[in-house]
This record gives sequence, structure tokens and C-alpha cells, in this order.
Amino acid sequence: MQIAVNILILLDFRAMITLHTKEDLRTLLEPQKQNQKRIGFVPTMGALHQGHLTLVSRALEECDFVVVSIFVNPTQFNNPEDLAKYPRHLDNDLKTLSSLNSSILVFAPSAEHLYGAQVSARRYDFGALGQHMEGRHRPGHFDGVATVVSLLFDAVTPDRAYFGEKDYQQLRILETLVQIEQRETVIVPCAIARNSEGLALSSRNQRLSDTELQQALLLPRVLNDAFVSFGKNSILAIKNQVKAAFDQAPEFDLEYFEIADVDSLVPTLTKDPKKKYRAFVAAHIGGIRLIDNLELN
Ligand code: PAJ
Repeated sequence: MQIAVNILILLDFRAMITLHTKEDLRTLLEPQKQNQKRIGFVPTMGALHQGHLTLVSRALEECDFVVVSIFVNPTQFNNPEDLAKYPRHLDNDLKTLSSLNSSILVFAPSAEHLYGAQVSARRYDFGALGQHMEGRHRPGHFDGVATVVSLLFDAVTPDRAYFGEKDYQQLRILETLVQIEQRETVIVPCAIARNSEGLALSSRNQRLSDTELQQALLLPRVLNDAFVSFGKNSILAIKNQVKAAFDQAPEFDLEYFEIADVDSLVPTLTKDPKKKYRAFVAAHIGGIRLIDNLELN
């Protein structure tokens, strides 16, 4: 009987741990910190897919101990319907993570616990980085993202934190956040994971019908066309070409297509041969907002 209990305890110890409070997190992380273990952190809003898992796998390769947070952050949604409809599958997410590696620590706090009584965003000034594209079309979004990441960083105190280039502007904002708040966390950018047809993986794709999933391939297609055209055509011509492609696709509502240099993220119509550029697109299909981007040179 005692042996059976011991085996159960052993199995339980090996099972993935999910914590809901900062205090429990601290208790588990403190010994790791004291032993100079490198803590890797992957913040997510759950509904995990292969894109998230590439970040987690990279963290597992590069760190001694990996924390994944699963928290649908209310302060970064400027559209209440989008927040209400955001997919939430905690049990599935836990299974997915434990099949990847059972030593991952999952942090899944409530909004009230993470934020305290006031679930609201702080105000940040990220300058031009936060003023265009997502910043312009989703007012307050980056304040919400920066606030929650700052609170999560306080709780986890990671050595390295992994973010996807899928949300390129977010990645650059968070690099700036670390500088503003003088944190020692290293931000690690990770390439965009796509399905076999080129569609960027996203939790929101789960809400698309099979037909919409096929139609959504327009996003990577216009980005690839921009990549091919960039060396020979003007930015204005490329933008017109993309607008024309969306005019042919009435199921889509194009929010923006911009080309910006990767340092300033200010949309431009001129090319400087010394600079690196990316194309950025946001569009709605079937009430779902999709974004994507691609390096052009
Ligand atoms: P979420 O959309 O869940 O994404 C979590 C992380 O996974 C982000 O860094 C995002 O860029 C990355 N990611 C998503 N899809 C990806 C893909 N196809 N390829 C590579 N990386 C991908 O981004 C957020 O959550 C939130 O804003 C968050 C940072 C967690 C703050 O609430």
C-alpha cells in the first residue's frame, strides 16, 4: 500500500504544475533563482497552437526552467465582443503543454489576483512605435499589453522571455518596455509559425470556417507579392496592388496594409537602401480580425 502511495506521489510530482497565485509561483521559483537556474517565460492568452509551442520549445532548449502563463488579458481588448469570444480551453492547453514537457510550470491567475482591485491599464509612452498600425487601429491596446506583461514579469522575474514576430509591433513595444522599466529580462524574438499553406497560426483561426480558412490565405499571398515586388516597384504601387487584391475579395474588410522600416515602425512611401523593411496587414473576415507581416529585404 505504502509503495503504491509513493508511486502516486512520484507521478504527481512529475505531472505538470499549474499555479494560480503569485505567492505560489514565488515559492516554486525562489529555489531555482537561488541555484542560478535560468528561467524562461512564454506569456500567452491560451488556446495554444503550434505557433505558441515553437516559443515554448525554444524556451525549453535555452532555459533550465520554463514558465508559461495562460491569461486572457481584459485590458488589451478594445472590442468587448472580441474579449467575450476569445477562445478559452485551459484543460486542452494543459494537456498540450504536458505532452510537450511535463516540467513546464503554468501560471494561470485570475484578473483580480494579477491586477488587484483595479483591472485597468497603465499609460505608457512608446513614441512613434505605438502610434501606427495596431496602435492606431486598437487604441489603448499596447497600454493593456505592456501593463499585463509588466505585472507578469514582476511575478515571474524571467531571465529570458519569448515573443513571436507574428505580433511584430508588440514585440518591439515590449523590447522598449524592458528598457523603460530597466529590467534585466532578455526579450527573444521568434519567427512566425505558418501552416503548410502559409497562413500564420493564430488562436483566432479556430473561429474561421473551412471556406474562410482558404480565403484567409489572401493575407500571406499579398505579403509574398509585396516581397517579390519590393525590389522593383515603388511602395505606392505595391500598396495599390494590395488594395486591388482586397477589392477582388468582398469577404474581406482590409483595415490596413503598410510598409514600415523595422526600426521606427512608421509607415512610409519611400525606400532607403540602408534600411530593413517589413509589410504589415490587418483585415477582417467573418467578424474575425487577422494580422500578419513579412520581412521584405
Ligand atoms: P497570444 O496571442 O496568445 O500570443 C502569445 C505569444 O505567441 C505572442 O508572443 C505571439 O506573438 C506568439 N505567437 C502567436 N502566434 C504565433 C505564430 N503563428 N508564430 C509565432 N509566434 C506566435 O500575444 C499575446 O498572446 C498577448 O498579447 C500577451 C503577450 C500574452 C499579453 O497578454
